[in-house]
Amino acid sequence: MAQKEILKSIPSGWFAVCFSHELLPGKMLSRVFNENDIVLFRTKQGVASALDAYCPHLGAHLGHGGTVKSNVLQCPFHGLCFNTNGNCVSHDLNSTKINSWPIQEVDGVIYLYYGHQKEKPSWEVPSILKRGSWGAPVFFTYIDLKTHPQDWSENAIDFAHLSYLHGFKSTNYDFKMATKGPYFKIGYHFKSDFKPLGIKIEISDVKTTIESHGLGCAVIEVISESIGMIACQITLPTMTTIGKLDLRVVGFADTKHIEKLNPLLKFVPQKWLNKIIAKSVLKVYLKNIEQDIDILSNRTLVDKLTQLPEDGPITEYRKWTKQFYQ
Ligand code: FES
Ligand SMILES: [Fe+2]
Repeated sequence: MAQKEILKSIPSGWFAVCFSHELLPGKMLSRVFNENDIVLFRTKQGVASALDAYCPHLGAHLGHGGTVKSNVLQCPFHGLCFNTNGNCVSHDLNSTKINSWPIQEVDGVIYLYYGHQKEKPSWEVPSILKRGSWGAPVFFTYIDLKTHPQDWSENAIDFAHLSYLHGFKSTNYDFKMATKGPYFKIGYHFKSDFKPLGIKIEISDVKTTIESHGLGCAVIEVISESIGMIACQITLPTMTTIGKLDLRVVGFADTKHIEKLNPLLKFVPQKWLNKIIAKSVLKVYLKNIEQDIDILSNRTLVDKLTQLPEDGPITEYRKWTKQFYQ
């Protein structure tokens, strides 16, 4: 597929549609997801579900006036009720059903799976929070960016721009891109200026690992042994309509060894430090994102790459992305 065609195509995979705290029990949200109008609702018992938005009776949009009644969503027009699988349970209409979307809730994020043939997902997004002793996450959302998930995710492995646009110093690979089905992983290190507690410090040993889970979830783990900090950002680009995406970011940190930065910090409750560091790292990351936005919103994808020696593995990345298109 020509690269320009990709910008008009929908990739398969898991994509975030909201944060868990935005969909409390008994609540409903409307979203546009990959050109589909959908509604999300959470039963009073806490089960989250995503259905196509239009009622099969006479076409009301369930997100406009629909209500969650115990464990079903009720249409505002004539009262049909649908369970979390999309089955009509209020009237004797056994075969009446709304399409329900595969859904996964992990690390405070609700993901839906998009399959070109409505196939079931064969893989999942893993929990990153369960892997370590992280502090509470912080959340951020940009809406309506004019770019594509593939284009956005390519930014993470575009090494040449890290130093030129974002000012990273001495960027070098720790390990090259390794792929396995819908996942890839890559590691590099760099030097950075950072102001964790309002004090500017230069960190000479920032190690970064990027793990991508399809095109909708990139996990960026940042470790500095010299200041005893690990921070993580989960970056979640989701196409709404072709040419537009919402970008969500979750940030968290582990500051168990942060007394390396200043011994007095061991007297500060770790819960606070985790939150402060997570917010500081997220702030730096969002500043980088803001430097990217205008460029990515107005770029095209060229087919014949002009390679610079310092470029990242863009060819390998694009080869890996082919699996997400028909
Ligand atoms: S349109 Fe939904 S019940 Fe009639
Ligand atoms: Fe960038």
